[in-house]
Order: sequence, then C-alpha cells, then structure tokens
Amino acid sequence: MEKTAYVNGSYVPLSEAKVSVLDRGFLFADGIYEVAAVLDGKLVDNASHLARLERSVGEIRLELPETTARIEEIQKELVARNKLVNGMVYLEVTRGADTGRDFAFPKGVKPTLVMFTAEKDIVGSPAAKTGINVITVPDIRWERRDIKSVALLAQVLAKQAAAEAGAGEAWMIQDGKVTEGGSSSAFILTQDDVIVTRQNGSEILPGCTRKAVVALAEERQLRVEERAFSIEEALAAKEAFITSATVFVQAVVSIDGKKVGSGKPGPLTDRLREIYVEFAKATAV
Ligand code: PDD
Repeated sequence: MEKTAYVNGSYVPLSEAKVSVLDRGFLFADGIYEVAAVLDGKLVDNASHLARLERSVGEIRLELPETTARIEEIQKELVARNKLVNGMVYLEVTRGADTGRDFAFPKGVKPTLVMFTAEKDIVGSPAAKTGINVITVPDIRWERRDIKSVALLAQVLAKQAAAEAGAGEAWMIQDGKVTEGGSSSAFILTQDDVIVTRQNGSEILPGCTRKAVVALAEERQLRVEERAFSIEEALAAKEAFITSATVFVQAVVSIDGKKVGSGKPGPLTDRLREIYVEFAKATAV
C-alpha cells in the first residue's frame, strides 16, 4: 500500500507529494527539519524534538505555519494513516516558495510544511547488537550547527565516505577534537568510568537523545562530563557509542580501523541502550 505524506494542509500519496522548484528549501536550503522516532506506534521524546524545532526556526527568523500542538496532531495522524509501528516521522519547514530567486526573505509567503514517515526496527536492528565501525573526517560545516538546518551537504559527504569504508558513521573532527557524528551525537566511556560527550554550543546539534541519555545516566549516579574529547582519548577508552532518534544508543566498536575497548559493544553501552528504550516506551505519546 502506498504511504501517505503531508504537504501544506493535505494528506497525499507519497509519490504525489510535491513542492515548487521555487521553494526556498530546494533553492537555498532555507529550512529546518526534525526526525522523531516511532516505537509501537507512538512518538518518542517528541516534546523535545518540537522544542528544538521552535528554537531552530527562531534562530533563522522563520515562523512555523502551525502550532507545535497542531504539528504533533499531524505527526500522529500520519503515523495512523501509514499504520506505522516502528520507524520515524520526518518533518521539514521551509521559508516557502516565492515568485523568483531573491536571497533576502520574501514578503507574504507562507512557509512550506511537509512530513512523511519511514519504517525502521530501531530496537531490533542488527547494528544494535554488533555495534558499528566509525571513520573520522574533518568537520567542514558552517558555524551554526546548533540549528537543525536542511543544509546537510557536509554530512552527506561524510556519511558517504563512511559507507564506502564499510562504516556506520563518520565522526567529524575540528581542532583535534570530535564534534559529533554525521547524524548522531558522540560519546566515550573513559577507563575511570566517566561518560564523556561534547558540551552543547554552536559546534554541535543539541541532540534530543543525547540530552535524555545524559539525564538518565545522571539519575543513576553515573558520572558524566560534557567536554570535547580527541580520537586518541576515544581509542584509549573502555567504550564508545552514538545516540540519535534513529538509532537510540548504538555501540562504536572501531574508529578508523582500530578497536575501541574489546572491539565489541561494551556493558555500559548495552545498559544505557536498555535504559533508553525503557524510557522511550514509557514516555512515548
Ligand atoms: N540526525 N547530530 C547531528 C548532526 C544530527 O543530524 C543528529 C540527528 C544528532 C542526534 O540528534 P537527536 O538525538 O535529536 O536525533 C546529532 C537525525 C536523526 C537525521 O538527520 O536523520
């Protein structure tokens, strides 16, 4: 059965879901996106994603065409129409389609809002059991990575390099330190059992999963330090892992072909994954 997408107020078959070639998302990457996981037909940590959406659009002076409460209703309607059990809802808002290609904001143009769903068994994914290999690439992105912009070319190139190297993610490096993954937050567990992940700021996206995992770890009296770390530190670590809406918590077993820890998913990563899945199930809406 063909899936349904949402485009500016209408539910349409995915193959007929279209926006104008003049849409500023297409011409300038002048838009913001969000990805929320769906578990057992419910949205995971969605309030956090919608709060980040509001912040991102505010930072680029784009007004949402719908309230976040209405956006959540549409997300739920799409999950229901597509009978989605496990996967994700993608949503994108752009500054709309003008009559030409002026760089400055157009006047009187309504923003574009589109959404679609995709299936993925996040909890049962094989990579969750085996962990993933990671490669490193220079972080060539712009200076406002805290904004969840649809300008993802640097991440496309990074993740293509990872795919060609048989890796599941690329860790981006700036000034000798890891910023984050192409589409995930990066973590290590040091030899003295401190969970380390880079502090939020304009150098990284404030990951919703990262935020939840840090809070869940701290609630359990695990030590967390939010600071930058190097690849040398990661290779000397006990464990490494990534977090995102589309993988939850996933072990990193090698970096640039060198083993991390035992070369297998570590016990703390497995535990945090279980804790996160439990949290996701208990709080999904
Ligand atoms: N990416 N860092 C970057 C650069 C990301 O693109 C993402 C998410 C994250 C993790 O954020 P969260 O935990 O809120 O998903 C960190 C999404 C999943 C994507 O682009 O598909």
